[in-house]
Amino acid sequence: MLLPAADIARRGRHEGWAAGAFNAVNMETMQAIFAAGEEERAPFILQITQTTINYTNPEELCAMAQVLARRATVPLAIHLDHGRTFEVVMQFLRLGVTSVMIDGSLQPDGKTPRGFAENVAVTREVVKAAHALGVSVEAELGLLGQVEAGATQGLTDPGQAAEFVEKTEVDLLAVSIGTAHGLYKGKPYIAHERLRELAAAVPIPLVMHGGTGVPDEDVRQAVHEGIGKINIDTQIRVAFYDALAEQVHQAEQEFTRADSEGLVRKYDIRKLLAPTRTAMTATVADRMRVFGAAGKG
Ligand code: 13P
Repeated sequence: MLLPAADIARRGRHEGWAAGAFNAVNMETMQAIFAAGEEERAPFILQITQTTINYTNPEELCAMAQVLARRATVPLAIHLDHGRTFEVVMQFLRLGVTSVMIDGSLQPDGKTPRGFAENVAVTREVVKAAHALGVSVEAELGLLGQVEAGATQGLTDPGQAAEFVEKTEVDLLAVSIGTAHGLYKGKPYIAHERLRELAAAVPIPLVMHGGTGVPDEDVRQAVHEGIGKINIDTQIRVAFYDALAEQVHQAEQEFTRADSEGLVRKYDIRKLLAPTRTAMTATVADRMRVFGAAGKG
């Protein structure tokens, strides 16, 4: 059943688990995420990032997600990840997503920080439009990035978070607690104390971006402390790369054999990609179990 992401995350918070939010960029990643949800009976959030626009038309991905959602037997949301402008959010709303993120922490270039007042203004604008359609909204406050143990600079401020949520009426809030997109240098430090303060300051589920590489024990603790949605992208890419590299290696060996035996080479894209889908499904399923969402669908 298709739901707003906030409904799934709120239920998770209530029952002590978090919804995994997984990024899809093509048919294989999307099928893997849906397959893992079914296998694990886990509610989940399928995400499409704004930057995917540079790779493919989001209309195609959203159409595919709708078809898969119709067949799904677990609760799920189709979510825009890191929408940077009001206009892009509107574009995705038209494609039938049930949840959107407006990332007002950064300017539309995705790099330059945006001030608090501007973040409030753009988030508020999106909330008004999305709520009119029954779509939930995630916003971001603070600047995501890996931090040294004990450091507090750059982390989301609890007082500001409370003011932000009250002014914008947003449903989910992505916070800076030491996680970062992509792989970490060494073991990441997660600011659990700050997370607890944030959870006490705001009444909505908090979102952990940069979920790849966060140790399982930190993930479980963070879920206990107030995280209701965890974003995973890089880990799916790693599973894809590793499986594809193995398949390309095997294909090259078969070509060499065919050449030496005077046979013709056989090219089959499906043979390369099917194992990537299996590997990504296993990766997503593993995260769903660690987030405590398995069996809740
Ligand atoms: P990772 O790529 O580090 O898993 O982060 C995903 C994310 O936060 C997407 O918004």
